[in-house]
Amino acid sequence: MSDKNVKRVLECIISTSNNNITVTDEKGFILFTNPNHWWIYGIEPDHYLGKSVYQLETEGILSPSISAMVLKEKTPVQIMQQTKTGKIVMSTAFPIFDDDGDLVRVVSYAQDQTEIRNLQDQYGQLEKKIQEYQSEVEELREQEELIYRSKEMQQIANTILRVSKTDATVMLLGESGVGKSVFARRLHNQSYRSKEPFIEVNCSTIPESLFESEMFGYEAGSFTGAQKHGKQGLIEQADNGTLFLDEIGELPLDMQVKLLNVLQEKTFKRVGGKKEHKIDFRLVTATNQNLEEMVEKGAFRLDLYYRLNVIPVQIPPLRERKEDIAILINHNLEIINKKYKTDKKLHPSTYEILIKHKWSGNVRELENLIERLILTSEDSIIFPGFLPSHFHGQESLEKKDDILMIDQMMVEDHDLKTALEQVEKWMMLKASKQCKSTYEMAEFLGISQPSVVRKMKKYKDQLTIQQGN
Ligand SMILES: Nc1ncnc2c1ncn2[C@@H]1O[C@H](COP(=O)(O)OP(=O)(O)OP(=O)(O)O)[C@@H](O)[C@H]1O
Ligand SMILES: [Mg+2]
Repeated sequence: MSDKNVKRVLECIISTSNNNITVTDEKGFILFTNPNHWWIYGIEPDHYLGKSVYQLETEGILSPSISAMVLKEKTPVQIMQQTKTGKIVMSTAFPIFDDDGDLVRVVSYAQDQTEIRNLQDQYGQLEKKIQEYQSEVEELREQEELIYRSKEMQQIANTILRVSKTDATVMLLGESGVGKSVFARRLHNQSYRSKEPFIEVNCSTIPESLFESEMFGYEAGSFTGAQKHGKQGLIEQADNGTLFLDEIGELPLDMQVKLLNVLQEKTFKRVGGKKEHKIDFRLVTATNQNLEEMVEKGAFRLDLYYRLNVIPVQIPPLRERKEDIAILINHNLEIINKKYKTDKKLHPSTYEILIKHKWSGNVRELENLIERLILTSEDSIIFPGFLPSHFHGQESLEKKDDILMIDQMMVEDHDLKTALEQVEKWMMLKASKQCKSTYEMAEFLGISQPSVVRKMKKYKDQLTIQQGN
């Protein structure tokens, strides 16, 4: 090939390249370059022709010029540059030597990295977002922290921790609101399935006619009203994770058979489907019913009962673990005060009543009560008078020496007027409990009956006085 043709080939390679290729002589004058790519430097092709890279450097077009660097260093160089147009460019340049070892040419390649940089930035931001979400999920997990001090609950927590490392079927027993659902979730979170789904199903809330399709899902067009493409059932959703069947005593008998089958075979079929699907989940159940009695009455299958009752965990009601009441009250005061940006405290007498309360709704009742008290009380101290009426009438209160009730807490941090009002409110509450009418109250307090009525009006939102007249 003639020199002319070689030059043509070279020019063709350079001009069709995706990179900005530039060849300079030993003095830095541009000999060839592909004109398509100088726009990233913000100049027209005729601007650089015949110019040296030193001149372009002085004009601020190349800052710095990589070819100038190679001419000086006589070795290959690679740098990142930002051009006048804001583009990020990766430049690489190589020296070319003749037979005598003299540098005769420099060839440089510049590649626009702006898009890649943008993608990298976006990727970094996405990664940061994912990390934020991950820590949020972890925080949420920690938020379902269980609060207890009693030995019974410590033992239960230990049992849950131990069995969480296995796939054993756990049955949580206990009254409503004792924390069965929270323990079920903790069991899942502590298990090796924690990154997989936790599916909670309350068997009492699914209508009997829908049970099968809800649990097992259905194939497309299997019944009227079914979704066009079929639907995953709850069992399928729990695959690899934990299925928590709450109120298992409400499971209809025909479903009991089907559930037993799934547990034995580790497979299931969607409604209207023929294919057996493999399934792997950890089962946790909960009930407040006496399943043994239900078995005797024929309302619950014995074989399923045995399968479910592998590890029964009985959670005692709150009234049987009084140490937990105080700590739960404090915990809830703290989080609910934080939620509403308040700083309300319970009067010691209010505490005393709450500790002795029966708590038939257990922790749920306690949580709701504290929230209600914080929201409805106007004072920073919550007096027993704010408690709903069913908390009153407990002999504990009446037996107390009245003087003890007017303690420091009632008057501290208050001016004289407010402190006197607190005492007045307390006296009104006490009178309202001991007397059957406003006349009796007047006699008890040593004031007139109209004054009693007036004061009751004044404190009506804060006193739960149930007087006829
Ligand atoms: N030890 C505890 N520490 C903190 N919160 C608790 C504790 N026990 C229960 N709770 C809270 O009390 C409420 C009721 O708990 P949970 O729903 O687990 O009760 P449950 O036994 O499942 O009741 P149900 O039988 O009605 O389903 C929830 O808000 C839960 O967070
Ligand atoms: Mg529950």
